[in-house]
Amino acid sequence: MYKIAWMPGDGIGIDVMHAARVVLDALKLDAQYIHADIGWDFWCSEGEALPRRTLDVLKSSDCALFGAITSKPKEEAAQELAPNLRGQGFVYRSPIVHLRQMFDLYTNLRPCKAYRGNPLNYRDDIDLIVFRENTEGLYCGVEFHPLPANVRGALEESSQAMGAFKDVAADDIALSARIITRRGAERIVRRAFEYAQAHDCKSVTLIEKPNVLRETSGLMTRVARQVAREFPSIEFWEANIDAMMMWLVKNPQQYSVLVTSNLFGDVVSDLCAQLVGGLGFAASGNIGDKFAVFEPTHGSAPKYAGQNKVNPLATILAAKLMLDWLGENQKAAQLESAIAAVIAEGRIRTYDMGGTNTTREMAEAVAGKL
Ligand code: NAI
Ligand code: MG
Repeated sequence: MYKIAWMPGDGIGIDVMHAARVVLDALKLDAQYIHADIGWDFWCSEGEALPRRTLDVLKSSDCALFGAITSKPKEEAAQELAPNLRGQGFVYRSPIVHLRQMFDLYTNLRPCKAYRGNPLNYRDDIDLIVFRENTEGLYCGVEFHPLPANVRGALEESSQAMGAFKDVAADDIALSARIITRRGAERIVRRAFEYAQAHDCKSVTLIEKPNVLRETSGLMTRVARQVAREFPSIEFWEANIDAMMMWLVKNPQQYSVLVTSNLFGDVVSDLCAQLVGGLGFAASGNIGDKFAVFEPTHGSAPKYAGQNKVNPLATILAAKLMLDWLGENQKAAQLESAIAAVIAEGRIRTYDMGGTNTTREMAEAVAGKL
């Protein structure tokens, strides 16, 4: 029996996770779902959006399914903290970023498929999957403002390009480091190729910018070329991030597996999600070597919270990804066929699809096909 950490979070996270459960129950997955607290309420009442007891649940689970949470900027977060906790040094940090780092969930997986009959499809023949590096790159968290004198000194010593900023005061300059490691590049590219091989995909496209970001994108590109040689049956394409934005709008049907670093991946995956229906359809997996967290990519959409109105398919598709990762490929395929059938029939549609059906009706329609 699987142990699955169950983290609805807050806002519509609760609605969509309820829907996911209806579907998983219909699939009769042999699993125990263990509720774990996460999100805004726990920041406000305890000063920690990801309480220690939740980490304990995660550590003793096979994987986790996560709904959505509310996040707010630092200053606002400080103001909403319970009065008895204020001024004690609590600093809000994103529990999602924390989870990715803590469990080294280095692959962010985002499939984007145009299901037949979805009125929101940009085109009907899109079937892409994005592999985004999830732990380093420009989001590694190495950031400075004001720029410390020792950091500045070291940069000036090692890089002539720093000369352009010679006269800028420390307080008027901010720096975010883009760190790419050989190990980080290697493992994300390898996961992309392994996926392509296992799923008979024709090509893997590396999306970087090595002509300008010579060192970071350069390393990523060299490593990718090396890995590509081990998979001679799969075509390896390279594209610059800017040009790729045009090609993905012009000819999205030509691409299959996309792989890229953290920031570029964030951008590419949102573009690809919108090609196949947007937030109501965008599921993702945060995957490491031993643990994984699956989630819809949307947030807590507070204005729809508790209204039983939003589209649960992103979360149900996240559950499908989870089943695949668990090795329950048959159940995953069954679930995907059920989702595809409901979309193709077009009888049940939530508001984002132009319909009036509820979150629960959509879940029940999918469950009905199982
Ligand atoms: P959001 O994704 O929560 O909602 C934006 C809009 O997208 C909604 O108002 C709604 O019109 C639409 N939408 C979202 N999910 C939908 C669904 N399942 N079906 C149909 N329509 C849907 O983004 P927003 O409003 O920027 O952020 C709200 C809160 O969520 C913030 O506190 C933000 O920090 C947080 N957030 C959390 C994320 C997470 O938990 N992974 C990710 C993104 C934002
Ligand atoms: Mg994003």
